[in-house]
Amino acid sequence: MVMVRGTLSGKVAIVTGGGGGIGRATACMLAEDGADVAVVDLKAQGAQDTAQQVRALGRRALALTVDVTDYDAVKRAVAAINAKLGTPLVTVSNAGTAGETNPFHNENKANLLDQLRVHVEGAYHWLRETIGPMRQAGWGRLVVTSSIAATIGLRNGSSYAAAKGALIGLVRTVALENTSRGVTANCVLPGVIETDILKSLPPEQLEKMRRGNPAKRFGKPEDIAAAIAYLCSEQAGYVTGQCISPNGGLWFS
Ligand SMILES: NC(=O)c1ccc[n+]([C@@H]2O[C@H](COP(=O)([O-])OP(=O)(O)OC[C@H]3O[C@@H](n4cnc5c(N)ncnc54)[C@H](O)[C@@H]3O)[C@@H](O)[C@H]2O)c1
Repeated sequence: MVMVRGTLSGKVAIVTGGGGGIGRATACMLAEDGADVAVVDLKAQGAQDTAQQVRALGRRALALTVDVTDYDAVKRAVAAINAKLGTPLVTVSNAGTAGETNPFHNENKANLLDQLRVHVEGAYHWLRETIGPMRQAGWGRLVVTSSIAATIGLRNGSSYAAAKGALIGLVRTVALENTSRGVTANCVLPGVIETDILKSLPPEQLEKMRRGNPAKRFGKPEDIAAAIAYLCSEQAGYVTGQCISPNGGLWFS
């Protein structure tokens, strides 16, 4: 992967789920690359802490407490970002939850619908509300955090895996329709990464996953942020509709 720094100077980026984990590492890496960053999360304190880290890197930041499943709230947030930071030309839709962990024969439909709402509807809202100005500008970067679960499945996580799989179809279609307008759309498919989201999985399942990984360790948020930063860079303009999976060798795409 090409390391690129400083190619987002003067651009505004949105990172959802930016209040911790992969989102926080991404917001900071995009700021290091020159972007001003709108940090979106359900967790107000988490978003504010990340925004503070972005400012410490010398960039402007806006912390927004938004539930990505609330379309009206997303529209208000995009209006606020436009007014306070400028037009976002980089959108990283990353917010997510693991939801309930159940074997499929005990799965409930409410969990499936919750997972579709937070991951698919959430991404739809942010991509849909930010793509217009990117098309007009002739330049844009859309990145969605899917999961390796979309490709190899996730024991006790059928609804999560289904929602993450749906994101790939969404992103590839957006890529097909918009690359001629200078707007790329890609997915990252993280392997198992050390963040709060892992707390919902049973420790014995996690240990098995760690031992089964060729790298013999879980990834760090920065491992994913680096892939996202690349996909958001100027140099990645010919990379679109792709799924990049930093996963320690757990699965080869
Ligand atoms: N950590 C992993 O192993 C792993 C693997 C594959 C994919 N992912 C994906 O990476 C993304 C980031 O997760 P993470 O690992 O950094 O976990 P995390 O829990 O640290 O971060 C997720 C963030 O999303 C926020 N969020 C959740 N629901 C939201 C909503 N409705 N509106 C706004 N914000 C909301 C949370 O408050 C949290 O700050 C998620 O989409 C997750 O599914 C993580």
